[in-house]
Amino acid sequence: MANPTLLILAGDGIGPEVMDQVVRIIDWYGEKRSLAFDVEHDLVGGAAYDKHGTPLHDDTMAKALAADAVLLGAVGGPKYDALDFSVKPERGLLRLRKEMDLFSNLRPAQCFDALADFSSLKKDIVAGLDIMIVRELTSGVYFGEPRGIFEEGNERVGINTQRYTESEIDRVARSAFELARRRNNKVCSMEKANVMESGILWREVVQKVHDEDYPDVELTHMYADNGAMQLVRAPKQFDVIVTDNLFGDILSDCAAMLTGSLGMLPSASLGAPNADGRPKALYEPVHGSAPDIAGQGKANPIACILSFAMALRYSFDQGEEAARLEQAVEQVLADGARTADLMGPEDGTPISTTEMGDAILAALDASL
Ligand code: IPM
Ligand code: MG
Repeated sequence: MANPTLLILAGDGIGPEVMDQVVRIIDWYGEKRSLAFDVEHDLVGGAAYDKHGTPLHDDTMAKALAADAVLLGAVGGPKYDALDFSVKPERGLLRLRKEMDLFSNLRPAQCFDALADFSSLKKDIVAGLDIMIVRELTSGVYFGEPRGIFEEGNERVGINTQRYTESEIDRVARSAFELARRRNNKVCSMEKANVMESGILWREVVQKVHDEDYPDVELTHMYADNGAMQLVRAPKQFDVIVTDNLFGDILSDCAAMLTGSLGMLPSASLGAPNADGRPKALYEPVHGSAPDIAGQGKANPIACILSFAMALRYSFDQGEEAARLEQAVEQVLADGARTADLMGPEDGTPISTTEMGDAILAALDASL
């Protein structure tokens, strides 16, 4: 059988340096676990703009649609701030999400024991935390029409539209309930039904999907502002949180920080299954391009590496190999390996991006 295909889009800022470590891990799986992938590299974001004048070339889009999974690093940077909105690096990522129809974005926030002290919250509030945010990723205010900056009388008005159809809510709700069944069987849905019609519809549809097909899963509803507060007050009350595109963007950054560092958090963006049963899928770290530290070998590659672990689990049905990689990460953290983002100013000398890769590869070798 042909090897599964991976399209790697390392992108901008720290994207390429963290992705280099993932490539070493992919090679390790080929050599040591007979799990070989056919890997192709291409450009996205500012890197694509520099070469092609667009943040995502049509050929790259076609390759992404054909690949078994896409691994993405990060997009954006101050160099591109002045560009026209339509060619900003972020548009490349948003086009991938939209055209691959990646409606379900899984953002786990898990607190590794070794890092519980490093969270900005008290240790007992975050120790053992394991929650999953399911963010709707292809609709809502990110894509709703009308949008734009228009003249109105003697001034301009900026407009974006929050828009959700029943079927868009239905499909992301189902993915959250399915996940909950494989976890602790609880879903909390977040919206602003107190002020937004789209929130009223959201709540109704989630409840209906639950009552008809997932009555065994515990479902609660929460206004998203209260949800943000509860996430920092008592995050362990949650199992799966399902929410829209914009609230999910914000709540997932908040949840990420509970775990100690944005440099730890992976994500999977999944679409409907293809003919072979595999969902269209893109895996990326939640952190951005971090231009302030780019090119210095300081970045933490763990979020990107754990994104590859999610690919093993959700695209390639390799749950055991995904767990092997996650345990290797847990092991190196327990052994004290720390990149700069995981240290305070008085905590000594951090290790580099490559040294973190070395440590994880050594832990993988030790797992055999
Ligand atoms: C994210 C990012 C993106 C988003 C940006 C880079 C477009 O913040 O993936 O959370 O807003 O969705
Ligand atoms: Mg974000």
